[in-house]
Amino acid sequence: MRQKYLKTEMIEGQVLYSIEHPKFKAKISQHGGQLVSFMDTSSKQDWLWLSRKASLFGDRAIRGGAPICWPWFGPSSNSQLPQHGYARLLSWDLISCESDENQMMIRLSCKLDEAAIDLSHLSLVVEYILSDEITINLHTENQTDKTIQISQAIHTYFNIENISNTEVSGLGGLPFLDQLTNSKSEGERDLVIDQEVDRIYETNNAIIELNSPNGIFEISGSHFDSVVVWNPWQDKAKLMSDFDDMGYQQMICVEMANTQGLTIYPKKDFTLSQRIKRKVGSRQY
Ligand code: BG6
Repeated sequence: MRQKYLKTEMIEGQVLYSIEHPKFKAKISQHGGQLVSFMDTSSKQDWLWLSRKASLFGDRAIRGGAPICWPWFGPSSNSQLPQHGYARLLSWDLISCESDENQMMIRLSCKLDEAAIDLSHLSLVVEYILSDEITINLHTENQTDKTIQISQAIHTYFNIENISNTEVSGLGGLPFLDQLTNSKSEGERDLVIDQEVDRIYETNNAIIELNSPNGIFEISGSHFDSVVVWNPWQDKAKLMSDFDDMGYQQMICVEMANTQGLTIYPKKDFTLSQRIKRKVGSRQY
Protein backbone atom coordinates (compact mmCIF):
# COMPACT_ATOMS: atom_id res chain seq x y z
CA MET A 1 0.00 0.00 0.00
CA ARG A 2 1.68 3.24 -1.13
CA GLN A 3 1.02 6.15 1.11
CA LYS A 4 2.76 9.51 1.12
CA TYR A 5 3.30 9.73 4.90
CA LEU A 6 3.77 6.07 5.74
CA LYS A 7 6.90 3.94 5.46
CA THR A 8 7.42 0.34 6.33
CA GLU A 9 10.46 -0.48 8.46
CA MET A 10 11.77 -3.83 9.63
CA ILE A 11 12.80 -3.93 13.29
CA GLU A 12 13.97 -7.22 14.79
CA GLY A 13 12.31 -9.09 11.90
CA GLN A 14 8.96 -7.39 12.50
CA VAL A 15 7.14 -4.81 10.40
CA LEU A 16 6.79 -1.37 11.91
CA TYR A 17 4.75 1.32 10.15
CA SER A 18 6.48 4.62 10.57
CA ILE A 19 4.42 7.73 9.89
CA GLU A 20 5.69 11.26 9.39
CA HIS A 21 2.75 13.58 8.90
CA PRO A 22 2.74 17.41 9.04
CA LYS A 23 0.85 17.17 12.36
CA PHE A 24 2.53 14.22 14.07
CA LYS A 25 4.97 11.32 14.01
CA ALA A 26 3.85 7.84 14.97
CA LYS A 27 4.85 4.19 14.83
CA ILE A 28 2.50 1.24 14.68
CA SER A 29 3.70 -2.32 15.14
CA GLN A 30 2.28 -5.09 12.98
CA HIS A 31 2.81 -7.39 15.96
CA GLY A 32 -0.05 -6.63 18.33
CA GLY A 33 -1.42 -4.07 15.84
CA GLN A 34 -0.50 -1.45 18.39
CA LEU A 35 0.60 2.13 18.48
CA VAL A 36 4.11 2.18 19.99
CA SER A 37 5.04 5.83 19.55
CA PHE A 38 3.24 9.13 18.98
CA MET A 39 4.27 12.79 19.10
CA ASP A 40 2.43 15.77 17.75
CA THR A 41 4.70 18.37 16.19
CA SER A 42 4.63 20.61 19.27
CA SER A 43 5.75 17.88 21.70
CA LYS A 44 9.35 17.29 22.62
CA GLN A 45 8.73 13.82 24.02
CA ASP A 46 6.78 10.77 23.05
CA TRP A 47 3.27 10.66 24.51
CA LEU A 48 3.61 6.90 24.91
CA TRP A 49 6.01 5.03 27.14
CA LEU A 50 7.88 2.06 25.69
CA SER A 51 10.04 -0.05 27.97
CA ARG A 52 13.72 -0.03 27.06
CA LYS A 53 13.56 -3.80 27.51
CA ALA A 54 10.42 -4.28 25.40
CA SER A 55 10.75 -7.13 22.94
CA LEU A 56 9.75 -6.19 19.40
CA PHE A 57 10.60 -9.65 18.04
CA GLY A 58 6.99 -10.80 18.03
CA ASP A 59 7.71 -13.45 20.68
CA ARG A 60 5.62 -11.75 23.37
CA ALA A 61 3.42 -8.71 23.94
CA ILE A 62 5.18 -5.37 23.48
CA ARG A 63 5.68 -3.72 26.87
CA GLY A 64 4.53 -0.20 26.17
CA GLY A 65 2.66 1.88 23.62
CA ALA A 66 -1.02 0.97 23.59
CA PRO A 67 -1.45 -2.82 23.65
CA ILE A 68 -4.89 -4.23 22.95
CA CYS A 69 -6.30 -6.63 25.54
CA TRP A 70 -8.91 -8.80 23.83
CA PRO A 71 -11.11 -10.93 23.91
CA TRP A 72 -10.53 -10.87 27.63
CA PHE A 73 -8.96 -8.49 30.08
CA GLY A 74 -6.76 -9.84 32.89
CA PRO A 75 -6.21 -13.51 33.57
CA SER A 76 -8.34 -16.11 31.79
CA SER A 77 -10.40 -18.56 33.83
CA ASN A 78 -8.28 -21.18 32.03
CA SER A 79 -4.80 -20.70 33.47
CA GLN A 80 -3.27 -22.19 30.28
CA LEU A 81 -4.45 -19.17 28.29
CA PRO A 82 -2.56 -15.88 28.19
CA GLN A 83 -3.30 -12.90 30.41
CA HIS A 84 -5.15 -10.12 28.51
CA GLY A 85 -6.11 -12.40 25.61
CA TYR A 86 -4.61 -12.84 22.16
CA ALA A 87 -4.80 -9.54 20.27
CA ARG A 88 -1.50 -8.22 21.61
CA LEU A 89 0.25 -11.50 20.77
CA LEU A 90 -0.85 -11.81 17.14
CA SER A 91 0.16 -10.27 13.87
CA TRP A 92 -2.20 -7.77 12.19
CA ASP A 93 -2.80 -6.84 8.54
CA LEU A 94 -2.83 -3.24 7.40
CA ILE A 95 -6.19 -2.95 5.61
CA SER A 96 -6.48 0.76 4.83
CA CYS A 97 -4.75 4.05 5.22
CA GLU A 98 -6.27 7.40 4.28
CA SER A 99 -4.84 10.82 4.89
CA ASP A 100 -5.01 14.51 4.18
CA GLU A 101 -2.95 17.36 5.65
CA ASN A 102 -5.00 17.31 8.85
CA GLN A 103 -5.17 13.69 9.86
CA MET A 104 -4.56 10.11 9.01
CA MET A 105 -6.80 7.09 9.49
CA ILE A 106 -5.13 3.69 9.60
CA ARG A 107 -6.98 0.39 10.01
CA LEU A 108 -5.54 -2.99 10.82
CA SER A 109 -7.25 -6.30 11.20
CA CYS A 110 -6.14 -9.01 13.61
CA LYS A 111 -5.09 -12.40 12.22
CA LEU A 112 -7.32 -14.32 14.59
CA ASP A 113 -6.72 -17.60 12.77
CA GLU A 114 -3.19 -17.55 14.23
CA ALA A 115 -4.49 -17.75 17.81
CA ALA A 116 -4.10 -21.02 19.70
CA ILE A 117 -7.85 -21.12 20.30
CA ASP A 118 -10.71 -20.85 17.83
CA LEU A 119 -11.78 -17.21 17.49
CA SER A 120 -13.30 -17.58 14.02
CA HIS A 121 -16.70 -16.45 15.33
CA LEU A 122 -15.30 -12.96 15.87
CA SER A 123 -13.49 -10.32 13.87
CA LEU A 124 -11.33 -7.55 15.29
CA VAL A 125 -10.27 -4.33 13.60
CA VAL A 126 -8.42 -1.40 15.14
CA GLU A 127 -8.70 2.07 13.68
CA TYR A 128 -6.23 4.83 14.53
CA ILE A 129 -7.29 8.39 13.76
CA LEU A 130 -4.18 10.47 14.26
CA SER A 131 -3.74 14.24 14.04
CA ASP A 132 -2.64 16.47 16.92
CA GLU A 133 -4.58 13.99 19.04
CA ILE A 134 -5.11 10.23 19.12
CA THR A 135 -8.33 8.28 18.71
CA ILE A 136 -8.22 4.51 18.96
CA ASN A 137 -11.38 2.64 17.93
CA LEU A 138 -11.53 -1.08 18.56
CA HIS A 139 -14.26 -2.80 16.53
CA THR A 140 -15.39 -6.29 17.47
CA GLU A 141 -17.88 -8.12 15.31
CA ASN A 142 -19.86 -11.15 16.39
CA GLN A 143 -20.26 -13.20 13.22
CA THR A 144 -22.44 -15.88 14.78
CA ASP A 145 -26.12 -16.35 15.59
CA LYS A 146 -25.29 -16.55 19.29
CA THR A 147 -24.74 -13.92 21.96
CA ILE A 148 -21.07 -13.60 22.89
CA GLN A 149 -19.39 -12.18 25.98
CA ILE A 150 -15.96 -10.61 25.92
CA SER A 151 -13.89 -8.20 27.98
CA GLN A 152 -11.25 -5.85 26.63
CA ALA A 153 -9.02 -2.84 27.21
CA ILE A 154 -6.97 -0.30 25.34
CA HIS A 155 -3.98 -0.56 27.68
CA THR A 156 -2.26 2.76 27.01
CA TYR A 157 1.12 3.42 28.68
CA PHE A 158 1.61 7.19 29.06
CA ASN A 159 5.10 8.66 29.10
CA ILE A 160 4.79 11.10 31.99
CA GLU A 161 8.50 11.68 32.67
CA ASN A 162 8.21 11.71 36.46
CA ILE A 163 5.53 9.89 38.44
CA SER A 164 6.30 11.97 41.55
CA ASN A 165 5.12 15.09 39.74
CA THR A 166 2.04 13.54 38.17
CA GLU A 167 -1.60 13.65 39.26
CA VAL A 168 -4.58 11.79 37.88
CA SER A 169 -7.90 13.62 38.20
CA GLY A 170 -11.41 12.88 37.00
CA LEU A 171 -11.88 9.66 38.96
CA GLY A 172 -12.75 11.26 42.32
CA GLY A 173 -15.75 9.75 44.08
CA LEU A 174 -15.99 6.78 41.70
CA PRO A 175 -16.09 3.26 43.13
CA PHE A 176 -13.09 1.14 42.24
CA LEU A 177 -11.88 -2.39 42.75
CA ASP A 178 -8.38 -2.44 44.17
CA GLN A 179 -6.88 -5.45 42.41
CA LEU A 180 -4.03 -5.60 44.93
CA THR A 181 -6.28 -6.14 47.95
CA ASN A 182 -9.42 -7.31 46.11
CA SER A 183 -11.41 -4.70 48.04
CA LYS A 184 -13.71 -1.88 46.91
CA SER A 185 -13.11 1.75 47.68
CA GLU A 186 -13.85 5.23 46.36
CA GLY A 187 -11.46 7.28 44.22
CA GLU A 188 -9.75 10.39 45.60
CA ARG A 189 -10.15 13.70 43.75
CA ASP A 190 -6.52 13.94 42.66
CA LEU A 191 -4.70 10.64 42.65
CA VAL A 192 -0.97 10.89 43.36
CA ILE A 193 0.95 7.67 42.82
CA ASP A 194 3.71 6.82 45.26
CA GLN A 195 3.32 3.05 45.38
CA GLU A 196 2.01 0.16 43.28
CA VAL A 197 -1.48 0.83 41.98
CA ASP A 198 -3.84 -1.50 40.12
CA ARG A 199 -7.40 -0.22 40.14
CA ILE A 200 -10.51 -0.83 38.08
CA TYR A 201 -12.82 2.19 38.34
CA GLU A 202 -16.49 1.67 37.52
CA THR A 203 -17.46 4.40 35.08
CA ASN A 204 -18.78 4.76 31.56
CA ASN A 205 -18.19 8.46 31.11
CA ALA A 206 -15.13 9.65 33.05
CA ILE A 207 -12.86 12.23 31.46
CA ILE A 208 -9.44 11.89 33.02
CA GLU A 209 -6.78 14.52 33.24
CA LEU A 210 -3.23 13.29 33.59
CA ASN A 211 -1.23 16.24 34.77
CA SER A 212 2.45 15.45 34.22
CA PRO A 213 5.77 17.15 33.48
CA ASN A 214 5.25 15.91 29.92
CA GLY A 215 2.04 17.92 29.56
CA ILE A 216 -1.58 17.54 30.53
CA PHE A 217 -3.24 14.63 28.79
CA GLU A 218 -7.01 14.58 28.56
CA ILE A 219 -8.19 10.99 28.23
CA SER A 220 -11.76 10.22 27.27
CA GLY A 221 -13.57 7.55 25.35
CA SER A 222 -16.85 5.88 24.60
CA HIS A 223 -18.53 2.52 25.16
CA PHE A 224 -16.40 1.60 28.14
CA ASP A 225 -17.61 0.40 31.53
CA SER A 226 -14.39 0.92 33.44
CA VAL A 227 -11.10 2.75 33.55
CA VAL A 228 -8.01 0.89 34.72
CA VAL A 229 -5.11 2.71 36.36
CA TRP A 230 -1.90 0.72 36.73
CA ASN A 231 1.68 1.30 37.82
CA PRO A 232 3.68 -1.75 38.99
CA TRP A 233 6.09 0.32 41.12
CA GLN A 234 9.63 -0.79 41.87
CA ASP A 235 9.35 -4.36 43.14
CA LYS A 236 6.89 -5.62 40.53
CA ALA A 237 8.75 -3.83 37.73
CA LYS A 238 11.91 -5.75 38.71
CA LEU A 239 10.04 -9.04 38.44
CA MET A 240 9.12 -8.35 34.81
CA SER A 241 11.98 -9.21 32.45
CA ASP A 242 10.74 -6.74 29.80
CA PHE A 243 10.24 -3.80 32.17
CA ASP A 244 13.27 -1.56 32.72
CA ASP A 245 13.87 -1.36 36.46
CA MET A 246 13.40 2.39 36.84
CA GLY A 247 10.76 2.67 34.09
CA TYR A 248 7.93 2.72 36.63
CA GLN A 249 8.95 6.31 37.41
CA GLN A 250 8.18 7.44 33.88
CA MET A 251 4.92 5.66 33.07
CA ILE A 252 1.36 5.18 34.08
CA CYS A 253 -1.32 3.15 32.33
CA VAL A 254 -4.78 4.65 31.98
CA GLU A 255 -6.94 2.17 30.10
CA MET A 256 -10.44 2.46 28.69
CA ALA A 257 -11.90 -0.99 29.26
CA ASN A 258 -14.92 -3.25 29.42
CA THR A 259 -14.18 -5.50 32.37
CA GLN A 260 -17.68 -6.41 33.51
CA GLY A 261 -18.51 -8.88 30.72
CA LEU A 262 -19.62 -7.18 27.56
CA THR A 263 -22.43 -8.79 25.56
CA ILE A 264 -22.26 -8.63 21.79
CA TYR A 265 -25.46 -9.76 20.15
CA PRO A 266 -25.64 -12.06 17.08
CA LYS A 267 -24.36 -10.44 13.87
CA LYS A 268 -23.73 -7.16 15.73
CA ASP A 269 -20.59 -5.18 16.26
CA PHE A 270 -19.26 -3.08 19.08
CA THR A 271 -16.70 -0.28 19.21
CA LEU A 272 -14.65 0.69 22.25
CA SER A 273 -12.85 4.04 21.89
CA GLN A 274 -10.12 5.93 23.66
CA ARG A 275 -9.29 9.52 22.80
CA ILE A 276 -6.17 11.38 23.97
CA LYS A 277 -5.49 15.10 23.69
CA ARG A 278 -2.49 16.94 25.05
CA LYS A 279 -2.67 20.41 26.46
CA VAL A 280 0.60 22.27 26.56
CA GLY A 281 2.06 23.01 30.00
CA SER A 282 1.74 21.20 33.28
CA ARG A 283 0.79 22.03 36.80
CA GLN A 284 3.58 23.66 38.74
CA TYR A 285 4.85 21.91 41.85
C1 BG6 B 1 -3.18 -4.08 34.00
C2 BG6 B 1 -3.77 -5.00 35.04
O1 BG6 B 1 -4.17 -3.70 33.10
O2 BG6 B 1 -2.16 -4.78 33.29
C3 BG6 B 1 -2.68 -5.50 35.95
O3 BG6 B 1 -4.76 -4.29 35.78
C4 BG6 B 1 -1.57 -6.15 35.15
O4 BG6 B 1 -3.22 -6.41 36.90
C5 BG6 B 1 -1.08 -5.16 34.10
O5 BG6 B 1 -0.51 -6.52 36.02
C6 BG6 B 1 0.05 -5.68 33.21
O6 BG6 B 1 -0.28 -6.89 32.66
P1 BG6 B 1 0.77 -7.67 31.75
O7 BG6 B 1 0.13 -8.96 31.39
O8 BG6 B 1 1.03 -6.80 30.55
O9 BG6 B 1 2.03 -7.82 32.58
